[in-house]
Amino acid sequence: MSIPSGEMISPREPLIDRFGRQINYIRFSVTDRCDFRCVYCMSERMNFLPRARVLTLEELATLGRAFVDLGARRIRITGGEPLVRRNVLCLFRELGRLREHGLDELTLTTNGSQLESMAADLREAGVARLNISLDSLHPERFRRMTRTGDLATVLRGIHAARAVGFQRIKLNAVILKHRNHDEVVDLTRFAIDHGLDISFIEEMPLGEIGEHDRAEAYYPSDAIRADLKQVFTLTPTTERTGGPSRYYRIPETDSRIGFISPHSHNFCDTCNRVRVSAEGRLLLCLGQEHSVDLRYVLRAHPGDHQRLKQAIIAAMGIKPRHHDFQIGGQTTILRYMNHTGG
Ligand code: GTP
Ligand code: 5AD
Ligand code: SF4
Repeated sequence: MSIPSGEMISPREPLIDRFGRQINYIRFSVTDRCDFRCVYCMSERMNFLPRARVLTLEELATLGRAFVDLGARRIRITGGEPLVRRNVLCLFRELGRLREHGLDELTLTTNGSQLESMAADLREAGVARLNISLDSLHPERFRRMTRTGDLATVLRGIHAARAVGFQRIKLNAVILKHRNHDEVVDLTRFAIDHGLDISFIEEMPLGEIGEHDRAEAYYPSDAIRADLKQVFTLTPTTERTGGPSRYYRIPETDSRIGFISPHSHNFCDTCNRVRVSAEGRLLLCLGQEHSVDLRYVLRAHPGDHQRLKQAIIAAMGIKPRHHDFQIGGQTTILRYMNHTGG
C-alpha cells in the first residue's frame, strides 16, 4: 500500500471551529470489530459492519494525509480493537511516515490482546504511545467485564510492550460501582510498580448495551480520588497528553494518575479533536451525532484531495460546543463506542 501523493497545501491551514478551538488531534476507528465484549461498550450479541461499509486501509491512509495537510499533529488509532484488523500494520507504517510531513505523534488505543506478538512491529512502524485497557486484576472479574477477555494474555501484552521499549504506556480503567470500584488502589499500585500511567474513566452512555444499568454503575472520579487519597498522596499537575485526562502525581513514583470525567468535570471548552468512525463518518463530537460522510467523498471523488480537504474544513462549522451526556438519563447516542473508539 502506498499513500497517493496528493498535493500538500502550503502553508498548512489550521482547522478551527466556530468557538475558536483548534483541531489538531484526530482519532481513527479502523474497525468496529473486537475480540472482547466489554459490558460498558457492547451488548453480548453484536452485529458488525459488512466489510464494504468499512473504510479500506488505503482510504484511511489518504485521510491521514489530508488531516496532516490540514494541521493535524496527532493521530490516535482506535477500534473496536484495531489490532484484529488484517494487515493493519501496513496502515501504521504509512501513517508513521507522515511524521516527515508534520505529524508529531502516532498513538494507539488497544485492549492488549494482540500486543504480545505485535508490540515490536508497532514500535518499528513509529507508534509513539500506547493506551491499554485494564479494568481488573482478577482473572474471573476481568472475564466478566470483558465477557471474553483473558487477563493473562493482556498482562503478557503489557509486558511485551515495555520490553520492546514503549515509554509512557497508559492503562485505561472504566470504573463501575460494584463491578471494579474496589480495585482502584490495586490498579494504581500495579501502574506504579510497572512504571505506567493510568486513567480512570467515568462510563459514557453510548449505545444500548442490554442488562447493564449505567445509572446504578456510575462511580464518579471524585469518589475514586477519595478512595486513592486514603492510601496515596495525590498532587495535581498541569501535565496534559492532549486528551481529556486530568492528571495527578504520586510523589516518589513515576506514574501519572489521570481522570476522564465527562459527567463530573466537563472538558469540552478545550476540545482539540474530531474522530472518524469505522464507516468513514467524520464525527465532530463523541457525545453528539453531528457528522460528515467522508467515505462518500472518498468514493465519489477518488483522488480528489482538494475536495476531501474542503469537506473536512467545512465540517468544522458544525462542531458542537459540548456533549450532552447525562448520568442515568436516556441513552441519546445510539451509536456504540466500538464504532468510534471513544
Ligand atoms: P491521550 O491521547 O493519551 O490523551 O488519550 P485519551 O485518554 O484521550 O484516549 P483513549 O483512547 O485512551 O481514551 C480514553 C477515554 O477517553 C475513552 O473512554 C474515550 O472515550 C475518552 N475520550 C477521549 N476523547 C474524548 C472526548 O473528546 N470526549 C469524551 N467525552 N471522551 C473522550
Ligand atoms: N464509557 C467510557 N469509556 C469507554 N470505553 C469503551 N466504552 C466506554 C464507555 N461506554 C473505553 C475503553 C477504552 C477506550 C477506548 O474507551 O475502555 O479504554
Ligand atoms: Fe472491545 Fe474496547 Fe469495546 Fe472492550 S471497550 S469491547 S476492548 S472495543
